[in-house]
Amino acid sequence: MRVCSIVGARPQFIKAAVVSQALAQAGIEEILVHTGQHYDIQLDRIFFEELDLPVPHVHLGVGSGTHALQTGQMMIRLEAALLELQPPPDWVLVYGDTNSTLAGALVAAKLKLPLAHVEAGLRSFNRHMPEEINRVVTDHLSQLLFAPTQTAVENLRREGITQGVHLTGDVMLEAVRTYAIVAQRKWSLGQLIPYASGTYYLATVHRAENTDNPVRLKGIFEGLGRLDGPVVLPLHPRTRARLDGSIQIPANVKLHEPVGYLAMLLLIQNARAVLTDSGGVQKEAFWLGVPCVTLREETEWVETLEGGWNQLAGTDPDRIAAAARARPLGHPVSLDIESASTHIVRLLQETPR
Ligand code: UD1
Ligand code: UDP
Repeated sequence: MRVCSIVGARPQFIKAAVVSQALAQAGIEEILVHTGQHYDIQLDRIFFEELDLPVPHVHLGVGSGTHALQTGQMMIRLEAALLELQPPPDWVLVYGDTNSTLAGALVAAKLKLPLAHVEAGLRSFNRHMPEEINRVVTDHLSQLLFAPTQTAVENLRREGITQGVHLTGDVMLEAVRTYAIVAQRKWSLGQLIPYASGTYYLATVHRAENTDNPVRLKGIFEGLGRLDGPVVLPLHPRTRARLDGSIQIPANVKLHEPVGYLAMLLLIQNARAVLTDSGGVQKEAFWLGVPCVTLREETEWVETLEGGWNQLAGTDPDRIAAAARARPLGHPVSLDIESASTHIVRLLQETPR
């Protein structure tokens, strides 16, 4: 059996690393295709090295661009690459909700190659997010839909998708479990930042809806400036590009290069609280028992809101500061089912195509 995995952006490298290991253990041949959506060392190569991902068999080298340009280039190059694969793959596997996911799904569907989606069924119900469009289209084209949560299964059912839907659990939880221990062996906090455990906040900001709206971006930085301690902010290049002088960086906000996954896990684990608009970081904070403030009006990961472990604060400075002061109740409880990657691989093997 041959599986063609399509990746391109930071969170996909993490998800694919876990599945890739399970595919190898099952003796399944994997062809890894990298679209080139992310290409800076700190967003790309560092993940391949730290997570032992195989070198991509095909690198499409697409890079950045507008949505149509980027997705279109990916589709053109991907179609040629998939047609060259002989024998054709038994499954094309796409991850998450980026433009690389969308391009992979459209090309596979048009070439009539069986398509499977890891992290299916997530919805923000906000069509202003490019990710929401990518998810909806990908889910409607997939034959196998690996839902990480029961909420995701329900979302799909409401859209009339019930065939091929499986509650597999979350490959990112597996990644956290595996690599949090590796991270502690590789790094000590002092090697990364000059702050002790529990004395700093960790923030990430990269969502287009925040970076591309000066009012929202200003609100976020003002909110971070009101926190009672240093805020470590590994900065996504999209956000750095928007810091053109019109946004004041408060003195307590410490800008940092994007970090690798291992360093990131350690930074989350030791933070007083996390403030983020990332999907993955909300979940990681929850799983690691660190309070999270989400810098958005909605979340796809509604389970994390339980007990106040994750709070939606949007981009209003007052709401951000108040949410960071609040203390959650009890302990975060995560959905804990069979290892997601093993489940996914078994379904790929057993599902007739
Ligand atoms: C993409 C995904 C988003 C995901 C995020 C993960 C889409 C529509 N968005 O957003 O869902 O959460 O990845 O991090 O697919 N850039 C660099 N170096 C790089 C990559 C990007 O400098 O290696 C800069 C470029 O100026 C580029 C901008 O960042 O235009 C945005 O990159 P892009 O890949 O289009 O979207 P992300 O914001 O990274
Ligand atoms: N991440 C990382 N280094 C960083 C910022 C994030 O390793 O500097 C990891 C983070 O821990 C999570 C993933 O990247 O596993 C999330 O990616 P991102 O926030 O870019 O995308 P999203 O999850 O929102 O799609």
